[in-house]
Amino acid sequence: MKTTTVIIGAALLVLGAQRSPADEISPEAQSAAQHVAVTTCAICHGPQGRSIAPKFPMLAGQHRPYLVAQLKAFKGQTRGDPDALGYMWGMAAPLDDEMIEALATYYSVQKPGPGRAVDAAEIARGADIYAKGVAEEGIPPCIACHGPGAAGTDDFPRLAGQHAQYLLKQLRSFQSNLRNVAVMHGVAKELQGKEMSAVAAYLESLGGA
Ligand code: HEC
Ligand code: HEC
Repeated sequence: MKTTTVIIGAALLVLGAQRSPADEISPEAQSAAQHVAVTTCAICHGPQGRSIAPKFPMLAGQHRPYLVAQLKAFKGQTRGDPDALGYMWGMAAPLDDEMIEALATYYSVQKPGPGRAVDAAEIARGADIYAKGVAEEGIPPCIACHGPGAAGTDDFPRLAGQHAQYLLKQLRSFQSNLRNVAVMHGVAKELQGKEMSAVAAYLESLGGA
């Protein structure tokens, strides 16, 4: 009898650990987050997180754990690019953990916008870097982490359909460590300007899932 209780208890603990935080957000908190998203965040990030101006990243369809981590990094003032500081530190400061989880949930379930293709030659060069890296320069294939179609995973952000201008600036910020993330610094440190623009153009051209 005792053993059974312990086993059931352990099974419940495992189930508890597998529940995603999204399950724990109350409907009230979720609707409060939607209100904040529509009235505040949308001013820059656009309706449902599909922004128009390339300075403001698309949030629609981005993975929840990544969104949570970024909002916490803005709030903790560890994502230190001047635009992060100027725009997002203040925005994230008043958000508590539940609001952060709920905002991340809201954006993660929005439909990403379509891709936008500008220069076919640049896109082809960028697709090659994305899939193969640049062996001579020690640049790893982006696909190894960001996945096929740049759709991302729970561990790596989605890049498909993101604004090229925003992507390019992030790559420069990783390179200079203004946005201090060891893994992306390693990837970006040898990337040349032209390679960054090409891969950014490729990523912007991808849409959908
Ligand atoms: C006044 C404009 C503005 C408003 C309002 C705003 N943001 Fe931002 N946000 C930005 C800018 C600019 C960046 C890009 C910062 C950078 O370049 O590092 C950004 C970046 C982000 C990112 C990082 C995205 C990524 O791909 O890494 C998230 C997440 C985010 N904002 C969420 C929010 C949420 C949630 C709200 C509402 C509570 C909000 N933002 C309100 C301007 C804004
Ligand atoms: C070893 C795994 C790995 C590889 C390979 C990799 N990345 Fe990343 N990338 C990451 C991680 C992890 C993050 C999230 C960083 C953070 O937590 O802020 C990221 C973030 C990014 C971002 C920021 C996204 C945003 O919304 O702000 C861009 C842009 C990016 N990567 C581009 C690339 C490109 C281009 C390549 C190939 C040249 C590449 N990555 C290769 C792991 C990787």
